[in-house]
Order: sequence, then C-alpha cells, then structure tokens
Amino acid sequence: MNFVNGIALDGPAGAGKSTIAKIIAKELNLPYLDTGAMYRAMALCAISAGISLTDAEGVDDLLQRTDIKVVYEADGQHVLINGQDVTGQLRQEEIGKGASLISKLRCVRDKLAAMQRDIAHETHAVLDGREIGTFVIPETPYKFFITATAQERAMRRVRQLREKGENPDYDTILKDIEARDYQDSHRDYAPLKQAEDALLIDTTHMTIEEAVNTVLRALGAR
Ligand code: DC
Repeated sequence: MNFVNGIALDGPAGAGKSTIAKIIAKELNLPYLDTGAMYRAMALCAISAGISLTDAEGVDDLLQRTDIKVVYEADGQHVLINGQDVTGQLRQEEIGKGASLISKLRCVRDKLAAMQRDIAHETHAVLDGREIGTFVIPETPYKFFITATAQERAMRRVRQLREKGENPDYDTILKDIEARDYQDSHRDYAPLKQAEDALLIDTTHMTIEEAVNTVLRALGAR
C-alpha cells in the first residue's frame, strides 16, 4: 500500500493519538513522527537559554542558531538539539505547557512544519499533532481527527499517573487539559482544528484497539 505524502492524525492533548499512531505505523511498516516532541524540544531549548517562550524575536534568533534533528534508533524517535539528545527530558508537564506556548510563534511553526513536511514526503510517515491535516500536509487524503471529551481525557491521565504511584488531583488535571485545548485551538496561526476531509474518531467510549481498527479500515488496510 502506498501512502504518498504521509498519514495525518490530529487532535487535542490526551486523546490517544500517539498510542494509535504508533500502532498504525507499526502495522503499516512506516515511520512514526511525534511532531509534539519537536515543539517540546524547542521549548526546552528556549527555557535552557533563558529566553521567554513568548518573545518572538528572541526565539527567532535562537532558531537561527539551533540545529534540530529527528533521528530513529531501535527504541524509536529521538530529537537532537545541536547534536545533544534531549528525548529523555521532553515528557515533563512543564515542557508540554511550554511547547503549547512556543508553538504559537510563526517562526517556530514554519521551521518545524517544513521539517515535518519533508519527512512526510520522503518517508510517507504517520504524523500525529494538532494541524498536520490542515497545515503540514493538507495534500494528503489520509486524515484523521482523534478526540475524546475533556473529562475522559482527564480520567485517563489520572489513571496513568496513579499507575506510576502518583496521587493526582482530577480537577487540576481537567483544568490543565481545558486550558491546553483552548490555547491550541485559539492561536492565530495554524490552530488545532479538524480538517474538513478528516475522519472524526471520538474515542470517549472506544478501546485503543477499536480506534486502531477504525483507522486501518478507513485506510483500506483491514
Ligand atoms: O502532542 P504534545 O502534547 O506533545 O504537544 C505539545 C504542544 O505542542 C501542544 O500543546 C501544541 C504543540 N504542537 C503543535 O502546535 N503542533 C503539533 N503538530 C504538535 C504539537
């Protein structure tokens, strides 16, 4: 099967996109590109350099001096910033919030989206993000919008954290999720939005397996 230009999975934080995208990529023997990791790496880079995530000029200047690379190793995708592997530092909550902030800047989005577009065109990868189907590779016919209610996404996050031995507060997590949804979908440039030709998959009452099967069936791979 040939998925020229890549496969786009968009949706809000915590909807299960990355889990679904990884399984789809494995099934189809294609690379998986976690585009959020690239925004997270840029946020980490700016924070480490002491540059405010809302300082467009400062961040633009930093971008000119920063070499970002995505490489694949046996355990999956790694992001290198000026040759240094920062993958292990990207999943912290603060970095996620920072990524959401820095992704509002046009200079950041233009640079990262161009890299993502090249990877999609060269490797026909499965990309997950917020605006892959509307902005990064709008030309692909393979588009999915994966969502779930904010309450369900908050519950899933609470369960994940409990499994790690933490004692999270549901209301705080729900508030964070709603704030992130608002910020990602209200930015001026390339906001989180369902593409008109994307297939909407609401996973609120679905298992991961059901969601994966829905995507694979739509791709003609089941
Ligand atoms: O998917 P994630 O939680 O790793 O993404 C972190 C933030 O990065 C997200 O809140 C908004 C931004 N982002 C984006 O603007 N576009 C993408 N394709 C991926 C992430």
